[in-house]
Amino acid sequence: MAMIINGRELANEIDGQTKIEVEKLSHEGLIPHLVVILVGEDEASQIYVRNKHKRAESLGIKSTIIRMPVNSSEEELLIKISDLNKDKDVHAILVQLPLPEQINEQRIIEAISPNKDADGFSPINVGKLSSGETYHLPIACTPMGIMEMFKKYSIDLDGKNAVVVGRSNIVGKPMANLLLNENATVTIAHSHTKNITNIIKQADILVVATGIAHFIKKDQVKIGATVIDVGMDRDENGKLTGDVDFEGVKSIASFITPVPKGVGPMTISMLMKQTVNLAKWSI
Ligand code: GUN
Repeated sequence: MAMIINGRELANEIDGQTKIEVEKLSHEGLIPHLVVILVGEDEASQIYVRNKHKRAESLGIKSTIIRMPVNSSEEELLIKISDLNKDKDVHAILVQLPLPEQINEQRIIEAISPNKDADGFSPINVGKLSSGETYHLPIACTPMGIMEMFKKYSIDLDGKNAVVVGRSNIVGKPMANLLLNENATVTIAHSHTKNITNIIKQADILVVATGIAHFIKKDQVKIGATVIDVGMDRDENGKLTGDVDFEGVKSIASFITPVPKGVGPMTISMLMKQTVNLAKWSI
């Protein structure tokens, strides 16, 4: 039976450390400041943004939400980002995705200063990560949270077969680079991959980010594997569930993350930690 990785508990532990760090910085006159830009009224995005704001405030981080109407132009958003890039009081900028269709997401991500890149999505930072550079480097928060889990549970990555299912810029690609930097042998599988089950079955470390409920079943998983589920899906009854059939897979894995209380809580904690890091690196 697998050991269940408790993301909620680890996130609380990291938040505790972040709070102490913020108190220390505040005594030195530095209050970390995160600005989140929300364009439009997407319901899920509003919830995410509210949760980030609440978490920041609870840790003593200054949090500002800038709301822009759904019909905002790319130009208007670029001007806003340019202002924030220049503002010495702002340490971290996050533009909530997805954006309305008239706005080119990549152009917006590229406009955020790499030194204020709360998400770690800037091409400069993505390039540094893939070059193995680590100094003062913001990293995508979800994969960074997963790396914290490996560390906390002493899960060795060196020389292991790691399979990442999903190739998004937010999770799959940065996850693969982080695993590679820790000397894992990394395969990225995705919707066009042939014989995906054979590849998945080789994984000592399996990270799944497909957005398909219960995509991974017990008979596809290597006995003793570590299984990390990034999914936030709905089952047929509308209940929150993951990309992995947790009940089946937990009987053969050595470590597994549940949904909820797995990867999810870690992502915001990493964003907070990263905001504090960006503030520290700014001086
Ligand atoms: N929308 C869903 N996930 C994310 C994320 O990690 N960062 C941003 N900026 N938007 C998102």
